[in-house]
Formats: sequence, C-alpha cells, structure tokens
Amino acid sequence: MDPTKEIADGLEGVVVAATRLSDVDGERGRLVVAGHDVEALGERACFEDVVGLLRDGEATRARELQERLGQARVAAFGALGEGPRAADGMDALRAGLAQLDTEDPDLVIGAVAVIAGAWARARAGERAVPPDPALSHAADFARMALGRPLDDARARALDAYLVTVADHGMNASTFAARVVASTGSDLVSCVVAAVGALKGPLHGGAPGPVLDMLDAIGSPERALPWLEAELAAGRRIMGMGHRVYRVRDPRAAVLERATRDLEATGVRSRHLDLAQAVERAAAALLARRHPARALAANVEFYTAVLLDAVGLPRELFSPTFAVGRAAGWCAHVAEQRAHGRLIRPASRYVGPSPAD
Ligand code: COA
Repeated sequence: MDPTKEIADGLEGVVVAATRLSDVDGERGRLVVAGHDVEALGERACFEDVVGLLRDGEATRARELQERLGQARVAAFGALGEGPRAADGMDALRAGLAQLDTEDPDLVIGAVAVIAGAWARARAGERAVPPDPALSHAADFARMALGRPLDDARARALDAYLVTVADHGMNASTFAARVVASTGSDLVSCVVAAVGALKGPLHGGAPGPVLDMLDAIGSPERALPWLEAELAAGRRIMGMGHRVYRVRDPRAAVLERATRDLEATGVRSRHLDLAQAVERAAAALLARRHPARALAANVEFYTAVLLDAVGLPRELFSPTFAVGRAAGWCAHVAEQRAHGRLIRPASRYVGPSPAD
C-alpha cells in the first residue's frame, strides 16, 4: 500500500456505508432513528415499534410484531431452554446464540432476551422462566430475568431504554456485524460477532462499572476527590466521553428523563441525584484536562441509573443493552446484504523488509 497514505486510526470519521437506519450528529448531539428523533421515540414508542421502523420504516405493526416476538421467544426457549452455563452474561449470549441455526431476525431478537433472562436466573441459582408470549418484549424479558412480573411503570422505563439503544449509526458492534455480513456469512455469525464487540468496556461494557463508581462515591461531596484520584491513577471515567458526540449524548438525556418519569410514579431511584452531581464534577474535571476535546456523559451513564431503578442486577446491564441493540444489528445485516460490498480495508506494512 502507498506508504504516504494517512492511516484512519480507529476509522474515525470514515464513512463506510449509506444507511437509512439511524443518523448520529455528533456536533449537535442529535440522534435520528429511521426518521424519528430519539427523544420522541423514547417518550412515545415501544420496542416493537422500533423493530418495525428499523425493518421496513413502519411503526404501525407493533401489535403484530409483539405477537411475532412473543412466538420467537417461545421458539428460542424451546431450542435453548436453560441456556449455556457461563460466568459472564455476554459470554452466555455468545455461546447461546451460536447454538442457533436461523436466518429469522425475530428468532435472534427473541433469543437474546431468552438467553439473558435464563442467565440471570441461573446466576440467582434458579431455573429459567419460560416466556409469556402475550407480554411486550420489555416486560417479558424482565419477567424472565427477575423471575417475577415487573410493574407497569418499571416495564415502561425498561421499554424506553430498549427503544433508546436499539440503533446508533456505525458503532463498533454494528460495524462488526456488517463486516461479517459483507462476507456473505449467516445472520447468527454476524450477531455473535456483534455480541463480542459489545462486551468491551469501551463500548457496551461500561454501565456496570458506572454503577460501581456511583456506589463507591456514595455522596455528592465525595465526587470530586474520587474522580481526581481515578484520573491520577490513569483510569478513565466510565460513562463519560464518546467517539462521535462532541456534546452530551442525547440518549443520556432521554434515559435521565425516563428515570425522572419513573420517580414521578413513586419508584425512587437510588442514584439519580448522585449521578447528576457526579456527571457535573466529571465533566468539569475532564474539560480542564482535555480542553480541546469535549468529554460529556454518554448513554451508559444513565443506563446504569435507569436499569438499577428498574431493578435489574448490574451484571445484566450489558446483556440488556444487547436485548435492545439486537434490533439494530439485524436491520444492519439486512441492509448490508441488500446494498453492501465486501468490507476489506487496507493496512500499512511496518514490518521488516525481506533481505535482498
Ligand atoms: N475518562 C477520562 N479520559 C478520557 C475519557 C474518559 N471517560 N474518554 C476519553 N478520555 C481521554 C483519553 O484518555 C484521551 O486522552 P489523551 O489524548 O491524553 O490520550 C482523550 O480523552 C481522547 O480520547 P480517545 O481515546 O481518543 O477517545 P475515543 O474516541 O477513542 O474513545 C470512548 C471514546 C467512549 C472509548 C472513551 O471516551 C472512553 O473510554 N469512555 C469511557 C468508557 C465508556 O463510557 N464507554 C461507553 C461508550 S458509549
């Protein structure tokens, strides 16, 4: 390869596909999903609406999709039952999905919820809970994960979360899925690759550590010294910063508001007030350290607060992200297959030259 060509480190800013699925405007902090602002979706749409929007631009078939996803969960439970044994929820997803042989996106989306739910029960030392196909995807996932039904307010908050994270441009896991799809491979291989990418703490693995951080800080006045010590030790503040956003991630605001709405129904969040104080302190500290690079709260910051208020254990936060993002992965695989070319970038050789 031409050694003078610049390396696009981390592929930052490189446009690799045209998509009708979602648009991330990092400068203005705007996210559009299939023609709708994420704020509007978070407030009004259910997960099934967004599956429809991502599939064919229609949000009008929520009822039909609810039935189809319900049947898909039943089929996935029939195929996978108790699910694989694994210490980590993302490992369980990877292993469980790999057992499927299907090109049906509903089955894949259903299976992610079933495997994550079964893994949560196994972690609690209990048997997997069979799906209830009459419930919404959000409510049934929570029921399978917790072993009891969720009240309406919490189910609505969880649904708003799944909607908010369903798709997000060319993020690392979506790109991984599209790379595999571009080779002509099968749907399950694409989604297994995406799960592997989502597991990393720089992508979807941050919300558990965000909750650990809030627990460790404990009270607003301890935020600044705790964060300073963390940075001095060379560690990153989880839930802060983003590859694309140069302002606050709009999804952080949607989830913050969903948590407020949940509080308005009488469900107290343990951490909302503290999280807001920690966010302010972290943003101020990071602005001082990196004046040229805006580092603000990302989606994972308030994911931690909302999912904790819903009652999910922190180990289930990343698998829950996958439950929502599975919709985007499947839609991107279909789009890549319909319009994409083999994704095969170049590298610059910096190794030794052969002896003459
Ligand atoms: N805490 C402390 N410093 C941070 C930071 C954070 N959360 N995010 C970025 N930085 C610093 C980097 O250390 C780097 O500093 P340097 O130039 O002195 O080396 C600078 O800001 C630029 O960061 P960079 O690594 O180029 O950003 P990126 O686009 O590659 O990374 C993230 C984006 C999201 C991976 C990064 O912000 C991060 O690690 N955040 C924490 C993990 C997280 O919340 N992940 C979920 C993402 S949705």
